[in-house]
Amino acid sequence: MKVGILTSGGDCPGLNAVIRGAVLVGDRQHDAEFVGFRWGWRGLVENDWMPIDRHTVRGLARQGGTILGSSRTNPFEGPHGGPDKIRAVLDQHGLDAVIAIGGEGTLTAALRLSDAGIPIIGVPKTIDNDLAATDYAFGFDTAVEIATEAIDRVRTTAESHRRCIIVEVMGRHVGWIALHSGMAGGAHAILIPEQPESIETICDWATRVIDRMRAPVIVVSEGFRLTGMEQAHSHKGLDAFNRPRLGGIAEMLAPMVEERTGIESRAVTLGHMQRGGVPSAYDRVLATRLGMHAIAAVAREDWGKMVALRGRDIVTVPISEATSALNTVPLSRYEEAAMLFG
Ligand code: F6P
Repeated sequence: MKVGILTSGGDCPGLNAVIRGAVLVGDRQHDAEFVGFRWGWRGLVENDWMPIDRHTVRGLARQGGTILGSSRTNPFEGPHGGPDKIRAVLDQHGLDAVIAIGGEGTLTAALRLSDAGIPIIGVPKTIDNDLAATDYAFGFDTAVEIATEAIDRVRTTAESHRRCIIVEVMGRHVGWIALHSGMAGGAHAILIPEQPESIETICDWATRVIDRMRAPVIVVSEGFRLTGMEQAHSHKGLDAFNRPRLGGIAEMLAPMVEERTGIESRAVTLGHMQRGGVPSAYDRVLATRLGMHAIAAVAREDWGKMVALRGRDIVTVPISEATSALNTVPLSRYEEAAMLFG
């Protein structure tokens, strides 16, 4: 069999490990050949491709980013977009299937293409961990490690100056990175998109920390809203999918805390640091297994399905299960963490 593979949407550590897992099992068990489409869906619609074989993927499990490149291209747009043109590209290469590795936007497009008859298998990817139907997505663990290390570092300088430092992490719709890194780093407050809080409550938490001679460290997701804010803070325009580009909520909150409490405050935005560098061991294993199972799903012609982690097992689920709901932080998890705030 012959399989096309692409990585689309925001990148994250572990994409290369998926490619490697799929290619090695494809080569050993199915005598498969691979074509890599460059720059996400753009490569598929524009027929921008590179050959991939077992030598191409040597040592790739530990390499961050993606050897194929990525973009937020919508495969239904542009002069070459749409299922008919994509079908023609597949026929030209003699491809039996496409493995699409990506997040919510990529999988939504994959589902539409699958419904239009293109043979596709999805692999979930998101550092935000916002996809339903999989317990965890690779990239998340690495991002949490990076954020936790940053919080540990910020803490010592915050203590030296008895300042409040607000650390902003990624998390557009869900607060998993903030929750996990905040708990791991012993943050004095964790602010997530699912749970608006008032500036008064945040200031109260910060003041309680200062009152016991400590320095408040607050972790905030980029998608957090203060009570009364209708939208997440955004001042950078829109992305390719017309979504507001987030980032800057920590910069907004720090002066508000300083003005109301008198505590000198600083903001640190981790941004794309969380998506770069080598994947953690956990993410390498998860990504490798997802790639291995994705090629098995291709061999079974399990079209329109996505590989997913359930407990310890990799299973296949309809892509629609992942795109129909968000994996949000349950209120009980937030309330559990909040017992330690202040
Ligand atoms: O969707 C994942 C994510 O990391 C979000 O948390 C963030 O808002 C977005 O990607 C930023 O993406 P980029 O700057 O690469 O378009």
